[in-house]
Amino acid sequence: MKINNVWKIYFSATGTTAKVADAITSQLTAHSIREKTHDFTLPQARTSFPEISNGDLVVFGVPTYAGRVPNLLLKYLGTIQGNGALAVPVVTFGNRAFDNSLIELRDILESHGFKTIAAGAFVCEHSFSHTLAAGHPDENDIALAKDFAETIYNKVSKIDLNLYRHEPIFVDGDEDAGYYQPKTDDGTPIDIRKVKPKTDASCTKCGTCAKVCPMGSISFEDFSTINGICIKCGACIKKCPVKAKYFDDPGYLYHKVQVERNFARPAENKIFI
Ligand SMILES: Cc1cc2nc3c(=O)[nH]c(=O)nc-3n(C[C@H](O)[C@H](O)[C@H](O)COP(=O)(O)O)c2cc1C
Repeated sequence: MKINNVWKIYFSATGTTAKVADAITSQLTAHSIREKTHDFTLPQARTSFPEISNGDLVVFGVPTYAGRVPNLLLKYLGTIQGNGALAVPVVTFGNRAFDNSLIELRDILESHGFKTIAAGAFVCEHSFSHTLAAGHPDENDIALAKDFAETIYNKVSKIDLNLYRHEPIFVDGDEDAGYYQPKTDDGTPIDIRKVKPKTDASCTKCGTCAKVCPMGSISFEDFSTINGICIKCGACIKKCPVKAKYFDDPGYLYHKVQVERNFARPAENKIFI
C-alpha cells in the first residue's frame, strides 16, 4: 500500500512527546511522503480535528498521566475521526511505567475509525522532575524511533489492500484498569488534583506561562493567577525562562521525590509491530 500523507498528531506539554512523534514522522517523510501536523496541546487547537483520509498514516502521540491517557483529553479524543486511516499510537512516560495508556490510546483510535498497525512507548523526562529520565528522548531514543519508522514503512509497503484483514496491534496493558494513585510510603493516598503552581518574585511578566498552558488557565492580566484547572503538566514550570513558577504543595513534593527515588532505574522503550 502506498501512503498518501503521514500525519504527526500529538499533545505535548513539555515537548518530549512532540520530539518522539517528530523522529518517527520525519523518517517516514524520507520516503517522499508528505507530512501534515496537528499539535493539539493548546486549547484553541482542540476545537476541531483535521480531515484524515483512508490512505493516510497517522502517528498519534500523547504522554502517560497516572498510567493512562490524560483524562482531560478524553472529551476531545471522542471527536476524532480516522476514516480508515492507518495509525501508530505512541505514548511517552516519565520512567515509572506506561501502565495502561497505550492500550487505552489504541482502543480510542480503533473505536474512531483508525486501523492501528504498530505502537510504541518511549521513556521521556518526567514532567515533574529534572532528574527522572533527564534528557530523554536522547540520541539513542531518537535512533530507535527512526528504526521503528523504517519497520512501519516496510510493514505498510507489504500491505495488499485486497487481501488485508485488519487486527488491532497487540500492546501491553489492561483496558479495565484504573488510574495510578500516588500514595505515601505508608499507603495514604496523595491527592494533587487541586494543586496549582505559584510564581516567585523573579517573574518578568513575559507571559510565556500563559501562552503555553494547555488548559488556558493562567491569567494574561496577572500571570500569578490560575483561573482554571491545573493538570500539573509542567509546561509553565519547564518553559519559564527565569524559572519563576514552582509547586510548593507538600503532597506534590512528596510524590515528586518518591518517584525520583523509587523509579530511578532506567526504564525501557517498548515497540509493538
Ligand atoms: C499529571 C502527570 C502524570 C504522570 N503520570 C505518569 C505515569 O503514570 N507514569 C510515568 O512513567 N510518567 C508519568 N508522567 C510523566 C509523563 O508521562 C512524561 O514526562 C511525558 O514524557 C511528558 O510528555 P510531554 O513532554 O509531551 O508533556 C506524568 C506526568 C504528569 C504531568
